[in-house]
Amino acid sequence: MAANITFSMIKPDAVTDKHNGAILKMIEEAGFKIKALKMTKLTDERAGQFYEVHKERPFYNDLKAVMCKNHIVAMVLEKENAVADFRKLIGATNPANADAGTIRKLFARSLESNAIHGSDSDENALIEASFFFAQTEIF
Ligand code: CMP
Repeated sequence: MAANITFSMIKPDAVTDKHNGAILKMIEEAGFKIKALKMTKLTDERAGQFYEVHKERPFYNDLKAVMCKNHIVAMVLEKENAVADFRKLIGATNPANADAGTIRKLFARSLESNAIHGSDSDENALIEASFFFAQTEIF
C-alpha cells in the first residue's frame, strides 16, 4: 500500500530566483497538504549526508556545492499516493526532459540545479522527512 507522505526541498537557486511562492502555490493547488515546512541552510557535511547515496557519482561534489549556495525550503507533504503524484508534479530530474507545466520545467536552471527535490519511494520519504523534522512536527 502506498504511504501518503513525501519529502521535498526547494533548492537554493530556486530560492534565490524567488520561486518559493509560485512553487508552494502549485503544490497546494495539486492537492498536497503541507504537514511541516521550514527554511534552513545545509552545510557541506549535511548535504553530503542527505545525498550519501550519490557519494561515488562524479557529480557529488558539485551537487553538494549547489545545495549549500543559499537557504533551502524543506517540507513534508501529504496526499494519497504522495510520492508518485509529487514526482509527476515536479517532472523529470533533467529539466530538459521534464513535461511542460511541471515545476522543474518552469523553474529549474539545469540538471544540477533542478529547482526541487522529491522522494523516490515511501521508505525514502520517511527517512528524508526525519532528516529535517521530528516525528512530532510531522504527525
Ligand atoms: P534530486 O532529485 O535532488 O536527486 C539527486 C540530484 O542530483 C538530482 O536531483 C540532480 O539535481 C542531481 N543529478 C542527478 N543526476 C545528475 C547528473 N548526471 N549530473 C549532475 N547532477 C545530477
